[in-house]
Amino acid sequence: MSGTGGHAPELPRAPLSAASYFAVEYDPSRDEVVMLDQRLLPEQVVYRRYRKPDEVADAIRDMVVRGAPAIGISAAYALALLAGTERGDAASFLVANGVAGRLLNATRPTAVNLAWAIARMSRRAAEVAALDPDARYDAMRAEAEAIHREDVDACRTMGALGAADVPDGATVLTHCNAGALATGGYGTALGVIRAACAQGKRVRVLADETRPYLQGARLTAWELHADGIPVEVITDGMAGHFFQRGEIDFVVVGSDRIAANGDVANKIGTYGVAVLADAHGVPFTVAAPFSTVDLQVADGSGIPIEERSRDEVAHVGARKLVGDGIPCRHPAFDVTPARLVTAIYTERGVVHPRDGETPAALRRPRA
Ligand code: MRU
Repeated sequence: MSGTGGHAPELPRAPLSAASYFAVEYDPSRDEVVMLDQRLLPEQVVYRRYRKPDEVADAIRDMVVRGAPAIGISAAYALALLAGTERGDAASFLVANGVAGRLLNATRPTAVNLAWAIARMSRRAAEVAALDPDARYDAMRAEAEAIHREDVDACRTMGALGAADVPDGATVLTHCNAGALATGGYGTALGVIRAACAQGKRVRVLADETRPYLQGARLTAWELHADGIPVEVITDGMAGHFFQRGEIDFVVVGSDRIAANGDVANKIGTYGVAVLADAHGVPFTVAAPFSTVDLQVADGSGIPIEERSRDEVAHVGARKLVGDGIPCRHPAFDVTPARLVTAIYTERGVVHPRDGETPAALRRPRA
């Protein structure tokens, strides 16, 4: 692993994220995964390079890269890296792919995009295992790049669908970061906001700071400010005040896993926002690729909630907030029930869980 500072590094081809910065890209000239270290934003722009799947697993666990689609893409690239170094026969390639897939999958349990991308890469691995190692590597890299490209396309499609519901002149509240930094590029919730602006709508954004990791303050505000979209950061506890004063017209957030009934897991604090939106008659909407929908899970009670370390709650940076020996709780996600969700925007279309529609309606008929 190595770091580079300042601007995004030159790649041998245009970044698939199609932006001046990116969460994750593959550099085929050096057989490396390149990631922006999101832990350091907004103070430092540092890109890190990884050559081994276990290094990518550490980067996902340690939040160098985060956001459900972005960690899925990172895992896919990690399995491409593996195919580049695993020169053994078909059987040993598949064993190594399985071991790396399990390691990657264990890093973050709530975001189903991770398991989805690993399963897709593993299906491709089975198809190409008997090829010679170079052809195998090319096929696995192409599959990971396809996952990345499709995610950017999905963001743009759902963004346009969601933007149609954003009123001109709206103040939009968002929670956490569901932007270009959380996806292959463009963003899910921030994709809706970007698309609304591109349609000529005047939109201003309130970004919840999103304790304890501060993705809203550090990442969402950074992205929107860079695009010239008006944004103000509020602490999480201020949202009720702004709802009460009628200053919020629309809520859009991303998701880490959506159950078959339309229950939505997202960053801790999202449920409270949804309750407030409901109490004040404000639409609460979710933008996510269909890879975030887990039809195997009937409702939100079946979604595993990642528990992270006490230290992330007890400290802000180097500053200690909670005395030694005092326990803290740290569920990283919560579940918003379908009855509070006005709309879910995906690249396959829109469903309205509040009106009884479920994401299963977007399942493609089998060929
Ligand atoms: O812990 P994080 O930063 O990975 O959590 C991210 C979120 O909760 C996002 O809202 C979600 O992954 C959707 S990203 C398009």
